[in-house]
Amino acid sequence: MAETKQKYYLTTPIYYVNARPHIGHAYTTIVADVVARRQRLLGNDVWFLTGTDEHGQKIERAAKAAGVSPKDFADGISIQFRNLWDRMGLTYDQYIRTTDEAHKRGVQKLFSTLKDNGFIYLNAYTGAYCVSDEAFVDAPVGTPCPDCGRLLEEVTEENYFFKLSAFQEKLIDLIESGTMDVQPETRRNEVLSFLRGGLKDLSISRSSFTWGVPVPGDPKHVIYVWLDALANYITALGYGSEDETNFKKYWPADLHLVGKEIIRFHCVYWPAFLMAAGLPLPKKIVAHGWLLFEESKMSKSRGNIVRAETILEAFGSLKPEISKAEQDLFGADVLRYFLLREIPFGSDGSFSFDALVTRYNADLANGYGNLVSRVLKMIQVEYAGSFSKLQSKHIVSSVYLEGVDELVAYGSEGIEKLVEVTAKLAIEKQLLDRDLLTQFDFLRYSVDRYLSANAPWKLDGDVPEDEARRQEILYTAAESIRVVTALLYPILPYATAKVWAQLGLGDIETAAKNGELKNLQWGGLKSGTKLGALGPIFPRADKELITRMNEMEQNNAPATAPAEAAPATTPAVEAKTEPVSIGIDDFMKVELRVAQIKVAERIPKADKLLRLEVDLGNETRQILSGIAEHYTPEELIGRRIVIVANLAPRKMRGLESHGMLLAASVGDGDKPVLATVPDDAVLGSRVR
Ligand code: MSP
Repeated sequence: MAETKQKYYLTTPIYYVNARPHIGHAYTTIVADVVARRQRLLGNDVWFLTGTDEHGQKIERAAKAAGVSPKDFADGISIQFRNLWDRMGLTYDQYIRTTDEAHKRGVQKLFSTLKDNGFIYLNAYTGAYCVSDEAFVDAPVGTPCPDCGRLLEEVTEENYFFKLSAFQEKLIDLIESGTMDVQPETRRNEVLSFLRGGLKDLSISRSSFTWGVPVPGDPKHVIYVWLDALANYITALGYGSEDETNFKKYWPADLHLVGKEIIRFHCVYWPAFLMAAGLPLPKKIVAHGWLLFEESKMSKSRGNIVRAETILEAFGSLKPEISKAEQDLFGADVLRYFLLREIPFGSDGSFSFDALVTRYNADLANGYGNLVSRVLKMIQVEYAGSFSKLQSKHIVSSVYLEGVDELVAYGSEGIEKLVEVTAKLAIEKQLLDRDLLTQFDFLRYSVDRYLSANAPWKLDGDVPEDEARRQEILYTAAESIRVVTALLYPILPYATAKVWAQLGLGDIETAAKNGELKNLQWGGLKSGTKLGALGPIFPRADKELITRMNEMEQNNAPATAPAEAAPATTPAVEAKTEPVSIGIDDFMKVELRVAQIKVAERIPKADKLLRLEVDLGNETRQILSGIAEHYTPEELIGRRIVIVANLAPRKMRGLESHGMLLAASVGDGDKPVLATVPDDAVLGSRVR
């Protein structure tokens, strides 16, 4: 009887197009790709969706600042996300954009359904709104947003409201019972305590701007960007269109993968919308932590981002013999491995180029890669690459070394057992997490130990007993490599394909389709197998690569002026105190502008520095300022100040500073006192 495939539908968040992708976005999409590949090799019918979120005030403002239409702006960034995913070989089945016509129709259909079902009403509302998060917030206007720290603005609108409050008990039940599984547990508890705190109805339309999907029948309103965005998970499948085949086939989602900061939207708003529309709920929502760089969340406004492109290029350059497209895939493998191996899934994790290179060398170049090349070379030399004499004989190794791991001491049988256990663990887990990769690495390490304990290279092929043992040892090692390779395939799709071919097993994608990567019983290397062409897979990376990657990121800072050539510490100009006269032309080159401090916070381990975000009217900037000993963050927020706006950006403590505050030095201690301007000075206007 033909096996019916189980469907598996998984999604990533759709990314905002206000800035181009960085490795934080890549992280989620990579994890989703690993899950998708794993589900496919298990024989399931997978639908993997990703895309971009293109409406809302944040995008409208970013486009305005760039001087282009929102659609042109969105087109430009959306394609960058898509191109990057393609360069990295990510196997999404569909790429949705919320500006797609079909999506917009689907969103309107969802809105109308909610309204027809009696869950939407019209009401006037005044509240504090966070433009960056695109959300009304329950905190006073003018105070920092409790989520992101940016200043809350007052917004009064006649809005459509969604009866979110009607769903509180139902949601608590669904999550507590596990009907809708929220992982990890810390996030589930966070959502539950939010729900227990009570739900207010949710404003789901806006009329203060136009960049969005119009409310059906009332086009002066646009639909709230989060309702618009969340709906992508069903509109992508054809919900609300003539052809709902995919919707019927794949919905509900088996997995929504998200970053921890958007868990509430996915575990509260989204299921409530779905229930109100009478639609089934996602089965599982999993939130991962943040990638930190230089100790804070990687984000565009902080300027501390790392781009995946840097890693693709740097690691790709280790393999000049392959094409550019393959170099990208190789670099992507390195990043995939690092992110999965280094960061405990669900927690925040630090990214550094140093750790990336160290991990690559230890686990891939010296670990897996070295094991593969040692073993296969020996089989090539001693047996002309053929497995005809090599097979599993289940002989308990006669070598027993005190102090080596028990499993290794048990020789072939021990290794075989370990392979079995590892394969079983991997099949049972839905997400390939760090623990599992540690287990793979343990297996690889044990095979290394097994080889050195049994030293097949010392055995003499002319002595029959030695020859029998050598055959067994090499078979055991090669067979372990086969299993480790199959297990690593979802994480290292490019490199494992090369190893698979070297093992003489052909195309790994075909093997995945045929179910050969899920049936990992011992003995898969049959006597007819013959090794393919051998060659190095993971060349060692030296420390110089770290410097190169750092430089690539520095050069990539969005500097406008070429002034970075100036040395970091200016030569002792102070020695000569002759006043220098400059003409008005020179003075006019300095752009002094009025700005308002929106965010102020301390920087860990930097006593003097504060990180500020200042509003210049149509642009927000990050500035680092050495005033932490003289001002507390609280007393700075909201103040109108003067900044030098056209100073070339520079990095301090890994964060980008784009501008300088003007301050007078007062008293003996040269206490800096900020130059201020009246409250009605227009933000962004020039001071001269
Ligand atoms: N557009 C919304 C999501 C709508 S989903 C219906 C959004 N977009 S976003 O561009 O801000 O992307 C957020 C997601 O990108 C996070 O939830 C996470 O998956 C990923 N990440 C962005 N920065 C990240 C880190 N620094 N670290 C880890 N993941 C990060 O929110």
